[in-house]
Parts: sequence; C-alpha cells; structure tokens
Amino acid sequence: MAITIIIGAQWGDEGKGKAVDVFAAQSDAVVRFQGGNNAGHTLVVNGQKTVLHLIPSGALYPHIDCFLSRGVVIHPTTLLVELKALSHQGIDLNNRLFISQRAPLIMPWHIEIDRLREATQGFIGTTKKGIGPAYEQFIARQAILADDLRDPERAIHKIELFFPERAALIKALGGTPSTTKEAIRHFHDDYDKTYRHLVPFITDVEAELRRRAQRGDSILFEGAQGTFLDVGIGAYPFVTSSHTTAAGACTGANTSPRHIDRIIGVCKAYSTRVGQGPFPTELAADSKVGQFLQTHGHEFGATTGRPRRCGWLDLVLLKEAIDLNGMDSIVLTKLDVLSGLKEVKIATEYDDQQQPRYKTFPGWTQDLSRAQSLTELPREARDYIDFIARSIAPQKCKISHISVGPGRAQIFELS
Ligand code: IMP
Repeated sequence: MAITIIIGAQWGDEGKGKAVDVFAAQSDAVVRFQGGNNAGHTLVVNGQKTVLHLIPSGALYPHIDCFLSRGVVIHPTTLLVELKALSHQGIDLNNRLFISQRAPLIMPWHIEIDRLREATQGFIGTTKKGIGPAYEQFIARQAILADDLRDPERAIHKIELFFPERAALIKALGGTPSTTKEAIRHFHDDYDKTYRHLVPFITDVEAELRRRAQRGDSILFEGAQGTFLDVGIGAYPFVTSSHTTAAGACTGANTSPRHIDRIIGVCKAYSTRVGQGPFPTELAADSKVGQFLQTHGHEFGATTGRPRRCGWLDLVLLKEAIDLNGMDSIVLTKLDVLSGLKEVKIATEYDDQQQPRYKTFPGWTQDLSRAQSLTELPREARDYIDFIARSIAPQKCKISHISVGPGRAQIFELS
C-alpha cells in the first residue's frame, strides 16, 4: 500500500489520532493535509497522554517523517509549543518535520476576527483559533505563506498591502484594530520570538511527497475534523473551512487521486458533535443516556474543553460518509463506552419529517477494555457490530478494527 487516507466519518473527534497511531506503525510518513490547530488528537502511549493540535500523530514513532502540507493553516506559536513539548518527552523532530512552503499562516488578526465574529454573530461555535479567517485570506490571494518566513521583508510588504482590509473588518465587527505600523512591529517581535525557529522545517513538501510516493514509500494522510464538517458537504454554515473528506487529501497535498490506494474511515460507536448545527440523533444534554455517553466517553473537546453533544450512531450518515469518501474500511472506536447501557440504538433511516427511526439492541454490562478479539466480546456487543458490518457490506466497505480504549494496545483487527 503506498498512500492511505484516514478520515473522520462523522463530525470529528472519532478517535482518528488513535487509528493513525496504529496504521502509522507500518508507514514511512504521516501527512496532515487540512485544518489547523482547531484539531486535537489525544494519544496515550505507555500511559502517557499527549495532545497534538498540528503535528501529525505519527510523531511518536521515531522512524516516521511528519509533513504539514499546503492545505494546513499553520499557527506558528502552537507549532513551536508542540515541538518543545515533544522535545521535553525526548521526541526530536529536527529533520523529521517538514512544513510546506505553500501553507498559509494564521496571523493574530485571524484569531481576532474569529473571536469577534463569535462574540457578535456567534452562531457557528468555532474553536476561535482563526481557522476560517486564515483560509478566507488565502482564498483572497493575500495570505502570508510559510515561504514568506524565509524572506520576512516579503511578509512585511504583504502586511502593508493587505492588513488595512483586515483592520477595516475588525472595526466593522466592533473591535479596535492595530495600525498597520503596529501589526508590522508585532510581526517583527513574533519573528524573533517564534517564526524564525520554524524556517529550517520549511520546504517543498508536495514535491517531496510525490518523490516518496513514486519510490513506493508508505504514506499516511491524516485527516482532521470529520466528513460532515467539510465546508462543501456538511450542513453549511455549520462546518469548518476546509475539505475534511478524502478528496481534500488530494487538493491539500497536491496529490493525484490516482495515487491513493486505500481510504479508511474512523467512526465512533455512537455520535458526538461540538459547536452548533444539525445533529439528528442527538440526545438531550440532561438525559440519562446523553450524560452517560458524555461522562463515560470523556466527551469534552481536546482543543477547547467544550462538552461535546452526544447521540446514537447514525447509520444513514455513516453510509453517506462511506459513499462520499469511497471508504474501503472502517475503524469502529470507543465501543467500550457503551458498556453499562440497558439498550443501545442505531438510526437506520429518517421518516418523512426527517426524524431518525431507530433499531434498538440489548445493551451489555461487561468491561470491554481488555478485549483483543471479537470472541472476547459479549454476544450483545458482537450483534451490534455485526449489524453495522452487514449494513455497510453492500457498499463494499467492512469494519477492519474495533477500538476499546484510548491505549495503543486497546484495539484489535477483525479477520
Ligand atoms: P472552526 O474549524 O474553528 O472554524 O469551527 C467550525 C466548526 O467545526 C465548529 O462547529 C467547531 O466546533 C468544529 N470543529 C473544528 N475542529 C473540530 C474538531 O477537531 N473536532 C470537532 N469539531 C471541530
């Protein structure tokens, strides 16, 4: 297998970091291709928890090279903080991390615009990390790119040209913008403190990835967020600002679809969503089951700490995600969280009012967290998995792995 894409099948937080960590073991390189530090991947290795927002999950393997391709919006300070945190754990990414010269940077004014919009319009519930405003400025052909850090005078010229427009926007949103002169001074300060440290990592990532793919390296593309947060697919405007689906890996890393060999979806055994937007199988936050899932699943955002909305698995959306992405297989995560529920439900269709109709399964009480094969699961859990597997089989998609806990070993493959 040369190129594999792993993406979320729902609204993010499916446990992709864990799945990537497992598949990364057999890869030479891991690539983030979209999003920014709005993502948060929690990895638990040898009991030690690591939360990464920008650096690909493969970083924890010393043999893996990590790439941030041009589709990622990069917040330099976050990246530097992560590099330092990993370095404290003995993980050195010098000569192992490559940042695309074409990647747009998240600048302080992007965060300010995101924050002001949330404060004044506030209907999306973004992570307030400046993701949308950074992509906006990139699409407007005004972005400061990673490449500009190699020639700070070019970046300053862009600030002179384009910052006044952003300042006007900040003012229109009720904020107090800096002057262009102040923005340039901040850039100089940030350059000395942070930006210059990233320069050695900046390179032509896309050309390098093509070279590696041609020589047959095994490359893993790691998606952030999930299918239904894709800006063109999700319930607009309740979406993120990038293409989170498999096709996004091609545009986000300038890779031809012909080079993709395998597409893996990660799907939680139930559903969660952070921020606003439709969620057909949502359980009321104060309902017993809603609270059970939130507590047992530790459903709080890795990036913002916000409680995640919780609900049953939506098979209608899962099948759509399989189609939209062309998924070959699914990693079903957090099955262990369902232990202790009297009954478990799956939405199998929607009625005329677009309300989900459910199939109800008997629950189970056994702790699944040590299971290493299907046969070690209670019959009720096997029936739950079997129903999902049979439902997606006509799409030529199978469940390949079941994850039963956050640890690296708490996952097994289905034969
Ligand atoms: P933004 O990506 O910060 O602009 O936020 C847009 C929407 O995507 C909001 O509903 C966020 O909660 C959601 N979102 C962004 N990143 C993630 C993620 O990693 N997991 C889940 N939801 C996310």
